[in-house]
Amino acid sequence: MRIVKKKVLVTRRLPDEALRLLDDTCEVELNPYDRVMTRDELIEGIRDKEGILCLLTDTITAEVMDAAVHLKVISNYAVGFDNVDVKAATGRGIVVTNTPGVLTETSADLTWALLMATARRIVEADAFMRNGKYTGWGPMMLLGGDVYGKTLGLVGMGRIGCAVARRAAGFNMRVLYYDVNRLSEDEEKALNLEYSGFDELLKEADFVSLHVPLLPSTRHLVGARELSLMKPTSYLINTSRGPVVDEKALVEALRSGKIAGAGLDVYENEPEMAPGLPELENVVLLPHIASASVETRTKMGIMAAQNLIAGLRGELPPNCVNPEVVSGPGC
Ligand code: DGY
Repeated sequence: MRIVKKKVLVTRRLPDEALRLLDDTCEVELNPYDRVMTRDELIEGIRDKEGILCLLTDTITAEVMDAAVHLKVISNYAVGFDNVDVKAATGRGIVVTNTPGVLTETSADLTWALLMATARRIVEADAFMRNGKYTGWGPMMLLGGDVYGKTLGLVGMGRIGCAVARRAAGFNMRVLYYDVNRLSEDEEKALNLEYSGFDELLKEADFVSLHVPLLPSTRHLVGARELSLMKPTSYLINTSRGPVVDEKALVEALRSGKIAGAGLDVYENEPEMAPGLPELENVVLLPHIASASVETRTKMGIMAAQNLIAGLRGELPPNCVNPEVVSGPGC
């Protein structure tokens, strides 16, 4: 008997292991270009598909879903899923999945790399060497800010926030955190955390690092008011989602010296940057690479493929963000 494979769209080349897994059970159409699919290409590509494996750069709106009458599963290759209209998917009985957990430690590592690079001016120092400016050791050359013994303020204490906090112990830091959900006393003790109000954290921390999902309530969570509460010697680190920070206000704060510097992995309108941002010397700019290690991107691919396959089988995928579609309301 010939087994009819379900048709799926994969919107960008993924690590081979993930594609092999999908190829075994699905008829895969892969975006042939090494770039984000346009809205029209997405709509055309998804039309006859039952599943899509998409990226955070694909905006999956109700309109895109309506182009695909057979669509059952949207498997997002990211832990964040603000690029998918989950409410619209749920209303249409479409399962949405994400890739939590596997990228936690890698994202926390990158947060620290960015924090250190920002405080110790690593990128500027590298350019200094390459441009032949190093003529000998100097006592006032490329001075940055210390990290050890300082106060770290974590905004958002989910998996990644906790992993960043664990690493702070090695730097003998005081760690404050703010989250709408407070951790238990035991969890706070285990991570050596102090719960703080948001404004107090901004006023006290030497490094403010953002780890919240993008929600209506977190859009522009850090704007002109919040930046003005920070110390002129403090740094802002953002590896969460760009729109959590009002980027125009950040440029102004960096330019006027309201804060000492910033390390950014994400931007308000990716891949664009706010005017003036790339010209500033007190900011380190990365192209959204928090989870970009070979091991982690492979794990994310396998997880996204497994989620897609389970959803197409009518099972509850392991990482479903709208389980009510499968189990029914109230189950
Ligand atoms: C995510 O997964 O949400 C990251 O931004 C990309 O890995």
